[in-house]
Amino acid sequence: MAIQKVMVVGAGQMGSGIAQVCATAGFEVKLNDIKEEFFERGLSTVTKNLSRDVEKGRKTEEEKEAILNRITKSLSLEDAHDVDIVIEAAIENMEIKQSIFKQLDEIAPEHAILATNTSSLPITEIAAVTKRPEKVIGMHFMNPVPVMKLVEVIRGLATTDEVFKTVEQMAIDLGKTPVEVNDFPGFVSNRVLLPMINEAIYALYEGVATKEAIDTVMKLGMNHPMGPLQLADFIGLDTCLYIMEILHEGLGDDKYRPCPLLRKYVAAGWLGKKTGRGFYTYE
Ligand code: CAA
Repeated sequence: MAIQKVMVVGAGQMGSGIAQVCATAGFEVKLNDIKEEFFERGLSTVTKNLSRDVEKGRKTEEEKEAILNRITKSLSLEDAHDVDIVIEAAIENMEIKQSIFKQLDEIAPEHAILATNTSSLPITEIAAVTKRPEKVIGMHFMNPVPVMKLVEVIRGLATTDEVFKTVEQMAIDLGKTPVEVNDFPGFVSNRVLLPMINEAIYALYEGVATKEAIDTVMKLGMNHPMGPLQLADFIGLDTCLYIMEILHEGLGDDKYRPCPLLRKYVAAGWLGKKTGRGFYTYE
């Protein structure tokens, strides 16, 4: 199946990045959010990223304008009536995602694929509220979307091979490397990454080393681009806690228990870069 028209639901950090890479690859993109200001904020992030590409000589002004012209505003899910795929990147909440998928299932054409960028919620459970579970799939992009090469493509229990192959090809067309993963808590990325981050928080909590020392060990010792505590701030400490809770609940083992220090920071509203304070402080 050839994909031409895309709807991205959610114009936040992930949704705007997904819209940017889709429009850059030549797809027509409807960028949807519930409020005009959310759409405008997402579009301004895309504009800023593309302007940097122009400054660095990676794109011309004309190419930038053509990409921006391929992104149109949507404030209603009804706009999904003529798209080939919807990529949902709304808030990480099962009830909200299920409600969005239920509506999309009614609105989108019969052939349309319904994908979710969830970082850890079960694809099968989201698919179950639709009448097309065979066309529901996980398409998990990494942050920052324009930079990171990976897309985890997650099969729900009912996802067909045809749908999987279409999405795999779309990820390649976006300049990404798709990796096939089955539907288990945290998939692969967050099953491996988040326990490492949680362990780094335990190391800080237990006084093994300072935050700077922990991050330096992982950056210089393991060649990670960011230390785990800096990365936690970048992901958002509320998101980190949420994913650890999903791993803990879904896999049962105590090794996934969220660190009490992580809970405390989230309770204090120290959510990382987005609130100006997490393990580090930000201007
Ligand atoms: N959007 C677009 N481009 C961005 C960007 C953003 N938000 N942030 C950085 N970049 C670009 C920069 O413009 C720069 O490109 P140019 O210099 O060529 O213009 C390039 O990326 C490198 O940026 P910097 O020099 O500013 O900084 P850096 O070398 O430290 O790279 C980084 C920044 C790419 C974010 C790097 O630190 C990194 O890879 N960090 C780890 C990111 C990571 O692990 N992401 C996964 C998070 S987990 C996740 O997403 C899954 C989940 O479900 C929670």
